[in-house]
Amino acid sequence: MSKKTYYITTPIYYPSGKLHIGHSYTTVAADAMARYKRLQGYDVMFLTGTDEHGQKIQRVAAENGMTPKQYVDHIVSGIKDLWGMMKITYDKFIRTTDEDHIATVQKIFKALYEKGDIYKSEYEGWYCTPCESFWTETQLVDGMCPDCGRSVEKTREESYFFRLSKYQDRLIKLMEDNPDFIQPASRRNEMLNNFLRPGLEDLCVSRTSFNWGIPVTFDEKHVVYVWIDALSNYISALGYLSDNDEAFRRYWPADVHLVGKEIVRFHTIIWPAMLMALDLPLPRQVFGHGWLVLEGGKMSKSKGNVVDPVILIEKYGLDAIRYFLLREVPFGADGVFSNEALISRINSDLANDLGNLVSRTVAMIKKYFDGLLPGQGEEGEFDADLKKELLALKPKAEELMDNLQFSLALADIWKAISRTNKYIDETMPWVLAKDESKEGRLAGVLYNLAESIRIVSILLQPFMPETPKKIWEQLSIDDEETSWELAGQWGVYKPTRPVSPGEIIFPRIDMEKELESLSSIIPDSGKDESGEKGHKKQEAQAEKGSASGDTSQISIEEFAKLDLRVAKVLSAERVEKSDKLLKLRLQVGAEEKQVVSGIAQYYSPEEIEGKTLILVANLKPARIRGIESQGMILAATDETEGRLTLVTVDKDISSGSKVS
Ligand code: MSP
Repeated sequence: MSKKTYYITTPIYYPSGKLHIGHSYTTVAADAMARYKRLQGYDVMFLTGTDEHGQKIQRVAAENGMTPKQYVDHIVSGIKDLWGMMKITYDKFIRTTDEDHIATVQKIFKALYEKGDIYKSEYEGWYCTPCESFWTETQLVDGMCPDCGRSVEKTREESYFFRLSKYQDRLIKLMEDNPDFIQPASRRNEMLNNFLRPGLEDLCVSRTSFNWGIPVTFDEKHVVYVWIDALSNYISALGYLSDNDEAFRRYWPADVHLVGKEIVRFHTIIWPAMLMALDLPLPRQVFGHGWLVLEGGKMSKSKGNVVDPVILIEKYGLDAIRYFLLREVPFGADGVFSNEALISRINSDLANDLGNLVSRTVAMIKKYFDGLLPGQGEEGEFDADLKKELLALKPKAEELMDNLQFSLALADIWKAISRTNKYIDETMPWVLAKDESKEGRLAGVLYNLAESIRIVSILLQPFMPETPKKIWEQLSIDDEETSWELAGQWGVYKPTRPVSPGEIIFPRIDMEKELESLSSIIPDSGKDESGEKGHKKQEAQAEKGSASGDTSQISIEEFAKLDLRVAKVLSAERVEKSDKLLKLRLQVGAEEKQVVSGIAQYYSPEEIEGKTLILVANLKPARIRGIESQGMILAATDETEGRLTLVTVDKDISSGSKVS
């Protein structure tokens, strides 16, 4: 039996300059989906490419002293390099300057003309060149383009028109009968209420005022309107109306067109109407995702507020950037990009949760069993709960992925990672290791950790092209233990070769230093250093429970700036809705201070009350979860087990004493 097919597309990009992180967003999402479907066994066709015609490109090329073709060739090679760097696994890259594409568009235009769905008339109206969109007088907002707010040009020319109005009722019915055709649902309502129900006008589909486009074969002074040219790529790429249309017969209709929200209108009104006119089946879904914005609005070259993905990948690695793009913002909604949010995610989710889980597990297998586990070990308390949660993960993640909910799928994977980290705290392998009679149980605990990591790493593959392999190398997990189906089974890992601790998969980043270095190269949306941003940093630090891992040298003068004091804990309580934070009241000499600290997973309030600790007393106060924190208490993190231990004093000493 032949494999089930899955056809996914990104928009084809305007090669009017370098692509920024916003463009990478659509492509990374499509790539994650394509990888996921391939892992599930589908025959996938993943299409991306470039939209190279139109007045805008002609103008930019002229500004750069090149012919349009010279200009686009240069930019397109840069775009392909970027996709190579981001490990985008497209199956076909279409350029609208490809001969095959041009021939298909000409045939489509002619077929629609012969059918009477394209006719000749005169166009008079407004044109927005940056958006390549026509507007009527009434559609303008304060005389400007309703999509981008920029000025429009008056145009009057002999033109061909597409009978879009003829398809209005069928389009309304399509959207009413198929709630899934446009996702998210809010975009469907927008199309119905703002465009379809008020009534469609026929669309001008040719231009004579410039010539960088596909000529109309039967009237050569006309070039095809760039959106008719561009939208046709989804079928021309498959060989539609060519001598070899095997791919078209195999993959069409598309399962999903992924597009940004501003071009949903073209994909859910003009494109289906063209397909209806050609008597072709319609795509199953158009998903309109939101924008990644910086403060001050959507990233755009003209505003000078773009983020270059290459810089970020070089600094933090590809998987961290892909993870951030897909995790930070629910797919469909707009999201603010900030350097701080990126580093927080890397530190907390990747370095702390995932990275530590892997390195602690590998280190414990090495330390307690010389790197090789003696089989699956003994079962014990907490195992059933861990297994249940890990085995429930694959179907949950699949359901979310099938709905393109990348962020939620990742959130579920991270819940499983946290569950596994909690299992370490529950079973306390370092305590088992002290008792020889518990060796079987210790092996069981470490086996279960390795098995949980195996499951999680399989499910991470659509998002991260590099990390799963690194994990498998460290844990010596074989290829035949990592097929997609095996993420739904327990007891697969066979410890036949010793584990080999390797590089730290996600090194922790010094937030403060990094923000400073990034601020000179990447615009940020954050507030000023002394304001909210500074507090967020302390909150992140408190959540981590320790200071950063920076070990560069400091002078004695720099050290002397720290005011370290002995402090006695008067009382402690948990911070509401946080499993990491405790609120402490401290006696520091004559003064009382309140500190919020990320130690709740290691100390109960009762355990900590009465202890004598060390306080960084001159740390700028911060609000953490709305509670004022007047300093930070010192704690050490165990290298292997990741546990926190509070720093206390050796002998009885009065509170407020200076530590130096
Ligand atoms: N050429 C047209 C698409 C034709 S498809 C038949 C086009 N190109 S584009 O280069 O301007 O945009 C391509 C995609 O990138 C769009 O889906 C757009 O929404 C997306 N993005 C561009 N900037 C973005 C953000 N800042 N955030 C998220 N996506 C963004 O439109």
